[in-house]
Amino acid sequence: MSLMEEIIAAVDEMPPFPQVVQRAMQVLAEPEYEVSGLVDILKVDQAVTANILKLCNSAYFGLPRKVSSLKEAVVYLGATQLRQLLLSGAASKIYEKPNEGYAVFADELWRHALATAVMAQVIRRHLRLEIDENMIFTAALLHDVGKVVLSAFVSDKYRVIENLVENGKRSFQEAEKEILGFDHAEIGGKIAEKWDFPPAIIAAIAFHHEPFRSPKEFRLLAELVALANNLVVMVGYGTGVDGLACRGHDLLLKKMKLEEKDLEKLVLLFQTEMEKTCDIAGVGSG
Ligand SMILES: [Fe+2]
Ligand SMILES: [Fe+2]
Repeated sequence: MSLMEEIIAAVDEMPPFPQVVQRAMQVLAEPEYEVSGLVDILKVDQAVTANILKLCNSAYFGLPRKVSSLKEAVVYLGATQLRQLLLSGAASKIYEKPNEGYAVFADELWRHALATAVMAQVIRRHLRLEIDENMIFTAALLHDVGKVVLSAFVSDKYRVIENLVENGKRSFQEAEKEILGFDHAEIGGKIAEKWDFPPAIIAAIAFHHEPFRSPKEFRLLAELVALANNLVVMVGYGTGVDGLACRGHDLLLKKMKLEEKDLEKLVLLFQTEMEKTCDIAGVGSG
């Protein structure tokens, strides 16, 4: 098997995205969703149910009495917090699986993904963009999922890729493509396809380093993920060498009509929001 065939085979071997979470997201996307319908979906998964109750009864919320019914917990948490809990629970398992190549920053990759999701939501609110929050959180959280697959193939070539980037000759993505035949964005798109995600999410993941190449109808989401990705790298949630070579950033800022003062505000909002989300997702914001 050629290297490229091996990489495609590895995409096929990726575990499926949890059905329960995917179905719950569909319900949460409706403006007036039915709580009982959502509870019926969630209760099938004992681990998910336990996590929801655990979060609801955690010190973070400081409720005066213990909540033991899933329905009550779902109502109390509401759509935004439930989405964060469910998606980050599923994504953390995918990002944190032991991997070889990028293993030096397996943890960093997860923190980076979560930060990107938070930043994308903050930008959406600031600019009042009309994109569904589920889409944004999912696409941003999973934008680098291709690295999970590529890492196994990167291990012995990582130094070569890193050198290409550090010498300023290539962006991280270009170097990957040159050495492996694929870049992580492309592979991420293939994984999202395998998971039957909507085309907008597939496109946002596949084009998160070159949103201008995304099909027009999904471009705004791809641009949002790209911008969020760049901004979190700037505030210290990068992943090693990947952050060194972001292209087209100024163009994105211009397109989104964001100026220096907006960026300062976004970063402040991000920091508060990131702390909250880390509490909900059960990770340290470090
Ligand atoms: Fe990336
Ligand atoms: Fe990224």
